Amino acid sequence: MAQTFETVGVVGLGTMGAGIAEVFARSGRRVIGVEADDVALERGRGHLERSTGRAVAKGKLTEDAQREILGRVTLTTSRADLADADLVIEAIPEIMEFKRVLFADLDRVCKPSAVLATNTSSLSVTAIAAGTSRPGRVIGMHFFNPAPVMKLVEVIHTVVTDDGLADDIAALARSLGKTPITAGDRAGFVVNRLLLGYLNHACVLLEAGVAGRDDIDAAMKLGVGLPMGPFTLLDLIGLDTSYEVCEVLFRETRDRRHAPAPVLRELVTAGLLGRKTGRGFYSYGEVAPATPEARQAASVSTVGIVGGGPEAATLATAVERAGFKPVVAESADLTPVGDADVVLALSDRPVVELAVRLPHPERLAGLHLVGDGVAEVASTVLTSPETTAAVHDLVQILDRTPVMCGDRAEFVVNALLYAYLNDAVRMLESGYASAGDIDTGMRLGCGYPAGPLEMLDAIGLEAVRDGLRALYAEYREPAFAPVPLLDQLVTAGVRSIREYAG
Ligand SMILES: NC(=O)c1ccc[n+]([C@@H]2O[C@H](COP(=O)([O-])OP(=O)(O)OC[C@H]3O[C@@H](n4cnc5c(N)ncnc54)[C@H](O)[C@@H]3O)[C@@H](O)[C@H]2O)c1
Repeated sequence: MAQTFETVGVVGLGTMGAGIAEVFARSGRRVIGVEADDVALERGRGHLERSTGRAVAKGKLTEDAQREILGRVTLTTSRADLADADLVIEAIPEIMEFKRVLFADLDRVCKPSAVLATNTSSLSVTAIAAGTSRPGRVIGMHFFNPAPVMKLVEVIHTVVTDDGLADDIAALARSLGKTPITAGDRAGFVVNRLLLGYLNHACVLLEAGVAGRDDIDAAMKLGVGLPMGPFTLLDLIGLDTSYEVCEVLFRETRDRRHAPAPVLRELVTAGLLGRKTGRGFYSYGEVAPATPEARQAASVSTVGIVGGGPEAATLATAVERAGFKPVVAESADLTPVGDADVVLALSDRPVVELAVRLPHPERLAGLHLVGDGVAEVASTVLTSPETTAAVHDLVQILDRTPVMCGDRAEFVVNALLYAYLNDAVRMLESGYASAGDIDTGMRLGCGYPAGPLEMLDAIGLEAVRDGLRALYAEYREPAFAPVPLLDQLVTAGVRSIREYAG
């Protein structure tokens, strides 16, 4: 029979612990909140009162209900008060030594049947469990910030967790109104592991000069439909936290993809930690520069388009409607566009090899249309600044946001997206989280419109596999090589990874 948890201890009532205590008290359970000393205890009480007070002010909670919730929470500085708890969740600072000392103590104080859970974001649950006499009853229960609002809970089991315990904790999370996902004990679990790999990759592209901060942010926000671009999100998470999580990931994976980008270290060393210090990748409190009006691409009358199929035809129609003369050519024969004022090569792969076949290579730029609102504009080493400026304006006239970038494989969007999707397939292949849980994790943990495996199915397995091959061929980065599972599914003609994985 599933274990029920009627009395729950929460150790550490800071940002996370106070929220977790509130969640349990709201579910009708008795909560014992433990802090290090009286000052911290009062601070914890303040967190709880303010958070529930805000809910009352918004009309989401009555004053009576608030009183009942707070009445269920006993606050103490004595761990001995946890003797009767069925479950204790630890939310003290992210320092292994502190956690190990605490768990040894909890092991001594709590009844043998009690489950000890950690809210750690990045430390090894296995290492925490190993310091107790009951490693089978130690588990990760990772809430997201703010705990009362965020629906996701990652339940982390280790190789020695008792059978059935992860299911019981997942059922408990559901009874709190949360959506649990279950994963093995790997650095970063599901969400941080996938998220930080992608965010760090954005820093690497920035540093390599493939595109600028605003262009990369616009590409991912407007092109992919993510709630915000990677640099805005890094500033929100905090660059110090992001740096630390990358370090933890790298220590475990030894994958260069997780090695914190030097720009992160530099900003952290300079004390520019993001929103919390007023400056990170962006400066806060400054007036944002006005978006320049689209200058007429004055000197342009003929627009060459290289590409076949409906995309080239649609672009030609749009160009014509905007008052320019389109000329279309297939890449096999570029003669028709030889004299065009600018030449747009529809591609997401490097286009410089097309440029060198033109009489005016400086007039060619790569153009990759992303969704309905974005166009990546790739300038080659031969593209003139006049062409880059004219194509930028032309894209705005066509009612798209231009994302200016270098002539690199997969430009910006696909480079970031496909590598992230590959990471998700790798996670699935390694068997440590299910397809459904990976997708749910990224949807609920990051507010993404779809999970990575859902995105992969929507884009097409073959397109992503081929894009990854192109990325690997260009950067020789092992993490970009398509994961064998993806490659084999394409070879076998399987069209949906979600269907394959169930
Ligand atoms: N902040 C986040 O966004 C977030 C999200 C998910 C998980 N986490 C994880 O949750 C844990 C706590 O993070 P936080 O942001 O709430 O930290 P925090 O600094 O806000 O709170 C930690 C609290 O623990 C108390 N504390 C320290 N030592 C203690 C002890 N020995 N006994 C009792 N209380 C003690 C402190 O007084 C403080 O109130 C960390 O493991 C962190 O990685 C944080």
